Amino acid sequence: MSNWRRLEDEAAMLAFGASLAQRFPSGGLITLHGDLGAGKTTLTRGLLRELGHTGNVKSPTYTLVEPYHLQGRDIYHFDLYRLGDPEELEFMGMRDYLRPDALCLVEWPEKAGGWLPEPDLRVHLRHCGAAREVFLE
Ligand SMILES: Nc1ncnc2c1ncn2[C@@H]1O[C@H](COP(=O)(O)OP(=O)(O)O)[C@@H](O)[C@H]1O
Ligand SMILES: [Mg+2]
Repeated sequence: MSNWRRLEDEAAMLAFGASLAQRFPSGGLITLHGDLGAGKTTLTRGLLRELGHTGNVKSPTYTLVEPYHLQGRDIYHFDLYRLGDPEELEFMGMRDYLRPDALCLVEWPEKAGGWLPEPDLRVHLRHCGAAREVFLE
């Protein structure tokens, strides 16, 4: 049985994202699983804000990746929803993003086919009424 934890509102999702920032003091790969509106981008915003990002966080729906440089580290936020073919990842230089010192957060990792390595952490998100639930793997 999975251990789902309830996140009551957006503030709770932001706080949860912030807590992940401490778990990853250097690089890593975090995949974010869940339907549209499950809170993947909100969680990412919480993490980025914790590291000092003050601007808005746009969904990289068309660009596929949005780079950030915070506290001396490179953080890459991916949204692969519109990825047509996993092979495109090769052309966009995915290999370079996945270096050990960079922190990568990937929405819709399923779209990458077998192209992503095993993540350090899988975050599963789902709707639960008006709230959300999270499960870490
Ligand atoms: N724990 C939560 N409870 C209620 N609403 C939430 C929660 N987390 C996020 N939301 C809201 O869900 C909506 C969609 O979130 P978003 O992060 O864009 O989803 P996704 O990136 O998974 O498609 C946003 O309006 C956000 O404020
Ligand atoms: Mg999103």
